[in-house]
Amino acid sequence: MPALDALIAPRLAELAAAGLRRRLRAHDAALIDAASNDYLGLARHPELIERACTWARRHGAGSRAARLVTGTSAELLALEDRLARFKGTEAALIFATGYQLNSSVLPALLELGEKPLVFADRLNHASLHAGLRGVKQIRFRHNDLAHLDELLATHPGATRWIVTESVFSMDGDRADVPALTALAQRHGAFLYLDEAHATGALGAQGKGLAALAPGQVPVVMGTLGKALGGAGSYVAGSRVLIDWLVNRCGGFIYSTAPAPAALGALDAALDLVPGMDAERARLARMGDALRAALAARGIDTLASSTQIVPAVFGDAARALAAAERLRAAGILAVAIRPPTVPAGSARLRFALSAALTDAQFERLLAAVRAP
Ligand SMILES: Cc1ncc(COP(=O)(O)O)c(C=O)c1O
Repeated sequence: MPALDALIAPRLAELAAAGLRRRLRAHDAALIDAASNDYLGLARHPELIERACTWARRHGAGSRAARLVTGTSAELLALEDRLARFKGTEAALIFATGYQLNSSVLPALLELGEKPLVFADRLNHASLHAGLRGVKQIRFRHNDLAHLDELLATHPGATRWIVTESVFSMDGDRADVPALTALAQRHGAFLYLDEAHATGALGAQGKGLAALAPGQVPVVMGTLGKALGGAGSYVAGSRVLIDWLVNRCGGFIYSTAPAPAALGALDAALDLVPGMDAERARLARMGDALRAALAARGIDTLASSTQIVPAVFGDAARALAAAERLRAAGILAVAIRPPTVPAGSARLRFALSAALTDAQFERLLAAVRAP
């Protein structure tokens, strides 16, 4: 065995022994998809596909360079203006992925001020941790604002950041954004809000939960590959903030601009998303019905109140067995295990979509109810 592989193989065996080895497996298109993040069903919407093709034909398959070199088109600047208007901010900046954004925007922000301190929700996404690598995080209990208040009171500092999600990717619960902004202001801290799972899916016209505190969230990011159906991410805030990122954010400066097809899909999504309140309302009803079906079986759905519904089994093997049972019933629901979720909280993560027909959703409920 080559030397590198010899180092890796025993580590993979350890993961397998703990039931934590991951494998890529092509998904089966015949299954009813209750696991993807295409919340509004836009990934296969004809207008997004058509616009993506039009933009690719017009501008090419690739964007050819980083934004500061030759990768910024007039259309991209116009799209960023549209996104900023959608989010109610002065400006926005588009990145190729949300992971790239979180892992490079946070370091650029932490260059600011004297000895910045970071207060982070315990359940923050891996990409937020990647952005805080090497930084001491003061972790507050998940969504526990009293705990955050206490930590802010006992850790003074001139430059303090609160980093959290508005909808948590694995629990499907919400942060109380107006209360968070009030707390941040009271302590003179800045809020960095990840709206990956709220953008498009929640809030008036799908504007996310930052819209509950207009003008109060200085840095908000979201992804374009979930409810918005395409690919990429955005960060939105003041013009000065965006100018800083253009100058200091390595993930922006040194990376090729998003592909024209992805931008075309976003252009179409921004036409459609504000008018999809009926789909958002249906998604909310589906979430309620699924939580009720799981609760009736005694399965814990934590504090989920959105289109993301966890079914917690605790043990990784039990979660995997539940995913297999559903697969046999024609449903794709993926088992999520540590380290993606805390040890002892392995689960199925249902992610509902307006693309599911009533009949498909009924089949999902029937499979959940089946003994
Ligand atoms: C909360 C959160 N932030 C950021 C990301 C990363 O976004 P992307 O998939 O565009 O890299 C994800 C998931 O993918 C997420 O769940």
